[in-house]
Amino acid sequence: MNAQRRAFMRTCAGLAAGASPLAAGAIAQSFAPQIAGPAAWRSRFPAFAAADAGTIYLDSAATTHRAQAVIDAIVRYYQEDNANPARVHARARRAGECLAAARQAIGEFLNASDPLEVIFTRGTTEAVNLAAATWGAANLGAGDEIVLTISEHNSNLMPWTAAARRAGAVVRIVDVDDEGHLRVDDVARHLSRRTKLVAFSHVSNVLGVVNPAADLVRVAHDTGAHVFIDGAQAAPHVRVDVRALDCDFYAFSGHKMAGPMGSGVLWARRALLDAMPPYHVGSNMAHEVELDRAVFEHGALKFQAGTPDVAQPVGLAAAARLLMSSRDVFASHDDALVRRGLRRLRGVGGLTLIGSGEPRDRVPVFTFTLSGWKAADVAAALDARGIAVRAGDMAALSLLKRFGTTEAVRASAYIYNTLDELDRFVDALDDLSSTSRVAGSRRTASPPAA
Ligand SMILES: Cc1ncc(COP(=O)(O)O)c(C=O)c1O
Repeated sequence: MNAQRRAFMRTCAGLAAGASPLAAGAIAQSFAPQIAGPAAWRSRFPAFAAADAGTIYLDSAATTHRAQAVIDAIVRYYQEDNANPARVHARARRAGECLAAARQAIGEFLNASDPLEVIFTRGTTEAVNLAAATWGAANLGAGDEIVLTISEHNSNLMPWTAAARRAGAVVRIVDVDDEGHLRVDDVARHLSRRTKLVAFSHVSNVLGVVNPAADLVRVAHDTGAHVFIDGAQAAPHVRVDVRALDCDFYAFSGHKMAGPMGSGVLWARRALLDAMPPYHVGSNMAHEVELDRAVFEHGALKFQAGTPDVAQPVGLAAAARLLMSSRDVFASHDDALVRRGLRRLRGVGGLTLIGSGEPRDRVPVFTFTLSGWKAADVAAALDARGIAVRAGDMAALSLLKRFGTTEAVRASAYIYNTLDELDRFVDALDDLSSTSRVAGSRRTASPPAA
């Protein structure tokens, strides 16, 4: 790779000549005006104008709808700027600048100190795998310990247990309490001087509880362990500040925060990235490549071999700008959804909520079982009434077992859901619950209401 190409790679990294460190608020303000309230937010999502607009969509923890701004940003990129990023011609330069701007925006979204700490991935799963395969390979050895929690999603469980197996390391699992809270003292009890890594979700995809991430990081660091945070369910709802959290790794998925499918991020401290071996090798992540040697790029660029995906980061950045533009509206609507959901669900006969019924430090994710009903049958009965929820083991079977079941129903709301939609969802559950009580242990869905 020649010097010109190297300089261009730095432009793609958001380090164009004279680029200042990430300026708080600058990008959010310059691209996305404040969106007034929940109704205005809903109008930003074209799914609600589509043929099945009447569907009550309560499956956003699985994936959200896409914002029009995200779709527009991707279309505009492909129409106006698409090229393989390079310095060689105007379009190629614009493509590189689009990628650089996206990296800068995500850096700001996370309050990172350096855009070169932002690796674009296909989602949280790839981000965890990348860290487990690279940092894990270089840092885990026989007898070392990894601390995970019972509430981890498979995607933040399997890559670490696999890395532990490869290294001969030991995995220790921390339980949650009966309300689904991860207690700092419980985590501390599992730490030892052999602990190399503590990995936990900022928000569980089942419990909806916001974990005390900064406190957990502090106790882990006190024993010299590194910390990986799975932010898949947090980044869509909670302000993420990696510097305030003081964590070592943070991962999230774009498709769970109104961004594109197949987009996501692994953020890691720059010093860690520079010390880690690469994940994939190939073009764009190395220069002066000969048969027996190569000089690797720095920071995030070392982990992005091959032609980069530009459209997904561009769309993800558009989603991040939207979220950054209206934090307060977002937080207060989330709070209203949590309170209404918990209050109404408490009144449904035979419903057992998994996790805390306390609205504080919670996102609008409600996971439950309904007495006399299989989870899949509840989902099917709701689907027949035009209400979309998820059912199954939520990729967190151990956690469900901890709460005495192997399957559950999950309703998850987002900024575009109304309180009235939550009411209609709970009314439908009330209806199912009384059907089950009348029919005894009824296991098939009742017909949809007319
Ligand atoms: C807590 C949590 N972690 C990780 C993942 C995996 O995310 P993705 O499928 O976007 O890679 C999910 C997806 O549901 C999740 O909820």
